[in-house]
Amino acid sequence: MGVEYFDLFYSHRPDPETPLEETLGALDTIVKHGKALYAGVSSYTGAQFADSVRAVQQHDWAPITIHQPYYNLLHRTIEWDLLAQTERFGAGVIAFAPLASGLLTDKFLSGEIPSTSRAATIWPRRWVQSHSVEDRRRILTGLNEIARQRGQTLAQLAIAWVLRLPAITSALIGASSVRQLEDNVAALKNLRFSPDELNRIDALTLTEAR
Ligand SMILES: NC(=O)c1ccc[n+]([C@@H]2O[C@H](COP(=O)([O-])OP(=O)(O)OC[C@H]3O[C@@H](n4cnc5c(N)ncnc54)[C@H](OP(=O)(O)O)[C@@H]3O)[C@@H](O)[C@H]2O)c1
Repeated sequence: MGVEYFDLFYSHRPDPETPLEETLGALDTIVKHGKALYAGVSSYTGAQFADSVRAVQQHDWAPITIHQPYYNLLHRTIEWDLLAQTERFGAGVIAFAPLASGLLTDKFLSGEIPSTSRAATIWPRRWVQSHSVEDRRRILTGLNEIARQRGQTLAQLAIAWVLRLPAITSALIGASSVRQLEDNVAALKNLRFSPDELNRIDALTLTEAR
């Protein structure tokens, strides 16, 4: 990659065929050799994350400074599975795909999601497959209406909502144009949610996400 070291090096996801301590020991070696400043993990469950932190503490290995989970309005598992653990151990959380890979934008409000689109083929695939076109339209247009009332686009609402929790350090977005990037960064202008807004968002997404 043409760099002398990484600022942050992740274990991308747990490997069931490799003992956890072997993976964590490798991260420690990378940090101790100066190839990375910090170690992190991605897509570990809450239990796997807690086991990892305990193991590195026991061996005095490089700490797990951050977790990178999949988190957005349509996939809320980390709220009950992971965040209590990251808060307990003082680790940061950078949520990836806060726009559900493009689903939480104004492109799919009709509920029609082409089977070849990224949103239908990668991370949000299960949500797309388990909802009818009518349900998708109801949920996405409902969220879009809340965004409109807040003076935001759906993408801005989705990003602001992910950042609402103190446990979330940052959101890792993708963009295919400068315009999208500027639109998304403008989400920072309104990060506050009223209890009524949060309740309306929960009514549209919480049972869906469990
Ligand atoms: N740790 C992991 O396992 C893991 C897995 C996946 C991703 N990631 C990381 O997360 C990053 C983001 O993932 P992602 O790109 O799938 O998720 P995302 O941020 O949820 O979605 C980004 C996509 O949404 C669309 N978009 C963005 N802003 C928009 C706007 N303002 N208006 C309309 N459409 C907009 C674009 O799609 P179009 O290109 O179609 O316009 C863009 O490519 C990746 O770059 C990667 O670094 C990590």
